Amino acid sequence: MEFRDTLPLRRMVRNYRDEPVLHEVVERIVETVRRAPSAGYSQGQRLLVLTEPEARAETARILGSTGWTEPEDREPWLESAPVHVLVGTREDDYHDRYRKPDKLHGDEEIEWPVPYWFVDAGAALMLLLLAAIDEGLAAGVSGVPLDAAAELRATFGIPEDVSVVALVTIGHPAPDPGWSAVTSRRTQPRRSPSQVVRWERWTY
Ligand SMILES: Cc1cc2nc3c(=O)[nH]c(=O)nc-3n(C[C@H](O)[C@H](O)[C@H](O)COP(=O)(O)O)c2cc1C
Repeated sequence: MEFRDTLPLRRMVRNYRDEPVLHEVVERIVETVRRAPSAGYSQGQRLLVLTEPEARAETARILGSTGWTEPEDREPWLESAPVHVLVGTREDDYHDRYRKPDKLHGDEEIEWPVPYWFVDAGAALMLLLLAAIDEGLAAGVSGVPLDAAAELRATFGIPEDVSVVALVTIGHPAPDPGWSAVTSRRTQPRRSPSQVVRWERWTY
């Protein structure tokens, strides 16, 4: 699928058909992350792929218990998704990389304006979303509140040096009008090009 055809299809889908996704398809989607850019090629991105029903039930329970993704009158989101991917990042990979001789500034590690390990996690997450569409599937992103991240860490043995960034759900899309009615896409207007993009010099 051409990029220009993929992008208009990119939206968060929060309900999925009761249809499995082939293991090889999941593999292709998650392995796109190896093509993600990363600062200094630090490759700090880490994924935990959950396909077993018990594991997915745990993420749904943990995120549901925070009130975050509670269905109420909405379609079942996490509960319906046949694939959950926890996207994480390992900050130490960046320090390890930027302390190597070819990256040191004098004796010092470069100080970035923002933590690039989170930037790279975002790039990885975006690849997952687009790769899912390319496979004829749909995907959604759920934020992970701090307390839920701690519970996910304990439940799945995620090591302390990996930060949990977000949860991506993947599956065959089903209608999600209940979610669409309450989510930010509906309540917040899309910003105009001139609000988001400046040319040559920042002018208000
Ligand atoms: C880091 C991140 C966290 C998000 N967390 C949630 C969430 O917890 N619940 C939710 O319904 N949508 C979540 N979203 C989806 C956004 O609400 C969505 O991207 C935005 O409203 C624009 O809609 P669209 O992606 O369908 O175009 C998240 C998106 C990102 C990138």
